[in-house]
Amino acid sequence: MVHYEYGPPDVVEMREVEKPVPGDHDVLIRVVAASVNRSDWEVLVGKPFYARMQGLRRPRDPGLGTDVAGRVEEVGGEVESFRPGDEVFGDVMYHGGNAFAEYVRVPEKAPIVAKPAGVSFVDASTLPQAGLIALQGIVGRVEAGDRVLINGAGGGAGAFAVQMAKAAGAEVTGVDNSHKQDFVRSVGADHVVDYTKTDYTKTGPYDLILDLVCERSMFAIRRALAPGGRYSVVGGSVTSLLSALIIGRLLSTGGRSMGVLMMRPNKGDLVRLADMVVAGALRTTVERTYPLEGVPDALRHLGEGRALGKLVIEIS
Ligand SMILES: NC(=O)c1ccc[n+]([C@@H]2O[C@H](COP(=O)([O-])OP(=O)(O)OC[C@H]3O[C@@H](n4cnc5c(N)ncnc54)[C@H](OP(=O)(O)O)[C@@H]3O)[C@@H](O)[C@H]2O)c1
Repeated sequence: MVHYEYGPPDVVEMREVEKPVPGDHDVLIRVVAASVNRSDWEVLVGKPFYARMQGLRRPRDPGLGTDVAGRVEEVGGEVESFRPGDEVFGDVMYHGGNAFAEYVRVPEKAPIVAKPAGVSFVDASTLPQAGLIALQGIVGRVEAGDRVLINGAGGGAGAFAVQMAKAAGAEVTGVDNSHKQDFVRSVGADHVVDYTKTDYTKTGPYDLILDLVCERSMFAIRRALAPGGRYSVVGGSVTSLLSALIIGRLLSTGGRSMGVLMMRPNKGDLVRLADMVVAGALRTTVERTYPLEGVPDALRHLGEGRALGKLVIEIS
């Protein structure tokens, strides 16, 4: 599924392209499932501005999709850790993207790992980006009794983050749209805030705020932080991210810290996420699956703010 211009989901079309041929260090994966992330929507519409890294006026690489689960079809001559038939999942964002396709080619060193037999392809495909954001934003940063707020708790990363914060023993507040309140409760939030009615920065204070959308000023957010509290922004407009970097740093006083959390895709954290699912410590939340030609519908559903948790493209 490709797009040759930035725009609404209608610009996405299905095209027959050459099947990728793996180089010596590459793995060719036959895609079974690929999940949809907000970042796919951002790359489609070309907003925020940093989503145009693939080309200012039009995307140089027309492919879409970064989170993949599938079977290894072929490996290059130098590949040691994978064999044809292996069931794998991972994040191909920094390795060409293109997960909304029948085949994807990635280097062996890419964040791709074995998929446990007990986790379905659909569930595994939901883990890479959303799971890594949640893992790196929450695990090891939260102690029992901490007051944690997740802004954007009804989305892909948010639903995982709520669960991880609860598992760490935190008191969790989830902020999202009106129709997502029950869903946010269902993944474990103790308190829910409807962002269309209540400004979460007037609630609190919180020991950790994980912000997946960043719509409020750094000054307002700082007021919601407890002494020693931490604020990490993961997504938002360029202005919001710059503001977190510059103003957030200036406001990081009195034990409080404010800044940007950059997700670091890596094999170890993917294995950890899969282990959590196998152990029953993390639940995937798939609202709907779509066939490959349904990519525009899935992107529309997410872009219009209707998705609850994750949407998945099932390819074969
Ligand atoms: N920092 C990094 O390294 C990195 C890497 C990858 C992705 N990201 C970013 O991570 C973010 C989260 O991704 P995701 O896939 O979890 O997104 P998602 O599934 O779309 O979830 C975002 C949630 O936030 C809600 N929301 C929208 N406006 C809100 C507001 N003003 N207040 C509170 N909630 C609001 C959305 O609901 P409605 O749409 O219904 O309003 C949605 O439920 C994206 O912005 C993405 O760009 C960052």
